Amino acid sequence: MKIRLSQEAPQEIAADLLVVPRFEADAEVPPPARALDRAAKGLLSRLYATGDVSGKLHECCVVYTQGSVPCQRIMSLGCGKKEAFKLDTARAVIGKMGRALHPRKISRLAILPPGLGLPDLSPQHLAAACVEGLRLGLYRFTEFKTKEEENGRTVPEECVLLLPAAEKLAPIQAAVEESEIVCEAVLLARDLITRPGCSSTPTALAEVALEVGRLAKMSCTVLDRADMEKLGMGALLGVARGSQEPPKFIILEYRGARRKGEKPVVLVGKGITFDSGGLSLKPAASMEQMKYDMAGGAAVLATMQVVGRLKLPLNVVGLVPATENLPSGTAYKPGDVLRSLSGQTIEVLNTDAEGRLILADALAYACRYKPAAILDIATLTGACIVALGDNLIGMLGSDEALQEEVRRAADFSGERVWPLPLWEEFSEQLKSDIADWKNVGSRAAGTITAGMFLSKFVQSYPWVHLDIAGPAWAEKEKPYVPKGASGVGVRLFVEFLKRRASSQAAAGATKTQTKKPT
Ligand code: BES
Ligand code: MN
Ligand code: ZN
Repeated sequence: MKIRLSQEAPQEIAADLLVVPRFEADAEVPPPARALDRAAKGLLSRLYATGDVSGKLHECCVVYTQGSVPCQRIMSLGCGKKEAFKLDTARAVIGKMGRALHPRKISRLAILPPGLGLPDLSPQHLAAACVEGLRLGLYRFTEFKTKEEENGRTVPEECVLLLPAAEKLAPIQAAVEESEIVCEAVLLARDLITRPGCSSTPTALAEVALEVGRLAKMSCTVLDRADMEKLGMGALLGVARGSQEPPKFIILEYRGARRKGEKPVVLVGKGITFDSGGLSLKPAASMEQMKYDMAGGAAVLATMQVVGRLKLPLNVVGLVPATENLPSGTAYKPGDVLRSLSGQTIEVLNTDAEGRLILADALAYACRYKPAAILDIATLTGACIVALGDNLIGMLGSDEALQEEVRRAADFSGERVWPLPLWEEFSEQLKSDIADWKNVGSRAAGTITAGMFLSKFVQSYPWVHLDIAGPAWAEKEKPYVPKGASGVGVRLFVEFLKRRASSQAAAGATKTQTKKPT
C-alpha cells in the first residue's frame, strides 16, 4: 500500500472508499465534508438524520454514492467524543478501520484525517497518526504460511490522505515520510519477536544488528563468548551456560551529535531469545510465548535503525545482551554465584530471574560510555502485568527529570508509562548471605525488586528502566496492534530522542545568540 497526500476536494476524488470522520456530538456534516455532501445530494446529512450512525468510537458505516460523486463509497467513521479525542485516538480509529475494510474490495482508499482543526493537534501529527494506524494496524506475519489464506486480508493498493487546500503540504509530507521510517522499524521489531526461538536466535539478532549498522551507517560490534569472558561478563555468561546457541553482546554506536565528545544516550534491551526459566523451569502452559522475551532487544535494534535513517543530531548507543535461558547439564544452578562485569557478585536463587542478570552486565557496560542517560527496556517481570495490566509500561528510575522526559514522550507516542517507586527499603530483600546480592526478593513487589536489582549496576548515571512484560505482547488484538507482538518501545524511544535532539538544538541556539557581540 502506497500512502500519499493530496489536496483534491473530497467531492472530486476518485476512490473506492472515502472515509469521513464523525464525532458523537456532530449533528451536522462537518465543514471539510460539506461540499462532498452537497455533491452527493445530501447522502451524509440524510444518513446522520436517520440516527443510524452516532459517531461513537470505532463505528464504521458504509454507504454507496450511486454515481453522484467520483468515489464509490463513503464511510462514516466514528471518532467518539471530541473532548476525549487525542492523537492516539486517531491512530486507533484509523487502525481498526483499516482492518474493517476487509472483505470489501478497496483498492483506492481516501481518508479525511480525523481531528483536523481540533486544538493542539497539528496536521503533521494527525497525518503521521493515520500512517501509524494503517501501517501498524494492517500488519500480518506470513513468513511461515505456505498457502494464500482463503480469508486473507486484502489491503488497498493506495491510500490518499486528503488535506485542506489551505495547508502547506511540505511539512506534512516530511512528517509522513518520517512516520513511514518509524513504522518500518516497528514492524521489523514485530517480525523479530514473532519469529520463533529457533529462528530469532542471538546469532540472528546479531546479523540484523550488523545489517542495521551497514544500512544506517553506524558501527556495529558483536561480542561472542570469548570476548565476554575476557571482559568478565559473568552474569550474562552464567545465563548462557545452559544453551547450545552462542550468546551475543550486540553494540551499535551512532554518532550524530553536532558537538564533538557529546555524551551518548545508551539504550539497553533485554534479548532473551527464549526463556524456559532454566532449571527453575516454567510451567508448560504458555511457555511458547517466551519467545517474546527479546522484545526489549528488538525495540532497541529497531530504534537504532530509525536513529540512523533520520540522522538524528545525537550520539546514541544501543546494547543488546542476547542469549537463551535453557536447562541442561551445563546450565547454571540455583545457588550458583556469578561474578558480574561490575565486579559485584550475585547469588542466583532462581534461574528464571535471568533478565536482570544479563541486564546487570549490559548496564555496567553502558556506564563505560559515561552516558548522558541510560534507558533500559525489558520484558522483565510477570509481576508488572499483575500490577499494571497489559497496556502499560512500568517505569522505574533514579532520576526524576529523566522520568518526566520519558513520560512526556510516552504520552505523545501512545506507548504510555506508569511509575513505580524505587525506594531504598526494597534493597533489603536483595541482600545475600554469601554474595553481594541475590537475584530475587520475596514474592511481593516483584517489579520493584527487579528494578532495585538493576539499580545496583548503573552507578550514578541518570537511568530509567521500562518493564514491557505487559504491552510487548497483545493476547487480544488492539486497535492498531494485531494479536501478538506489538513492537512497543520503538515509537516511545524515537519520540524521546527526537525531543532530546530538538531541545539540545534550542539550547545550542540560545548559547550562540548570547555569545554574539552586540
Ligand atoms: N521473562 C520473564 C518475565 C515475563 C513473564 C515476561 C511473563 C512476560 C510475561 C522473566 O524472565 C521471569 O521469568 N521473571 C520471573 C521473576 C521471578 C522468578 C522473580 C517472573 O516474573 O515470574
Ligand atoms: Mn525468566
Ligand atoms: Zn525472561
